[in-house]
Amino acid sequence: MRVHVADHPLIAHKLTILRDETTRSPTFRLLVDELVTLLAYEATREVRTTTVEITTPVAPTTGTHLASPQPIVVPILRAGLGMLDGMSRLLPTAEVGFLGMQRDEQTFEAITYAERLPDDLSGRQCYVLDPMLATGHTLIAAIEYLLARGAVDVTAICLLAAPEGLRTVEEAIGARGDVTIVTAAVDERLNEQKYIVPGLGDAGDRLYGVV
Ligand code: URA
Repeated sequence: MRVHVADHPLIAHKLTILRDETTRSPTFRLLVDELVTLLAYEATREVRTTTVEITTPVAPTTGTHLASPQPIVVPILRAGLGMLDGMSRLLPTAEVGFLGMQRDEQTFEAITYAERLPDDLSGRQCYVLDPMLATGHTLIAAIEYLLARGAVDVTAICLLAAPEGLRTVEEAIGARGDVTIVTAAVDERLNEQKYIVPGLGDAGDRLYGVV
């Protein structure tokens, strides 16, 4: 498993405003959108391409197109939905599948309550969108789901990750499949409620309100 921490002053600036408890939902949503586009640029460095012949108004030349089958983007509901527009801006031709997962607040295990994905993901590159890699249980369940359907490699894009969660994901699936995690920062730790510290609070609530 590879972990890429996107170290860039613009990302650090936007992330700091995102973390601030005084930042309200409209600004929070906008910043998530911008951050995801920046992270997506890093995350798609290994996206598969194919060579094509084209003709410019001046001369024939050889260029690059995204390879088929197109990548698939998988936001994990609810909070991952706030990352979809930022990702789609960069990969507009990618298909989008959905996984609805929430954590059981007693056991902190991931519960899958909805799924809308092709049964066969053979040969597909998958980009999972989940803003907070906390315990890692949700991400493990999502990655296992995708690899079991034949996905060839999975890149998770997270705004923040906890060291404990990264270790758990590594132990669970590090040796299986080609997995990359791209995050804007790795924070200090998890607290007793399994929130990331210092983190940014509940990403879903801050995006969409407490419902
Ligand atoms: N989910 C969140 O939204 N925030 C955390 O800190 C951990 C999990």
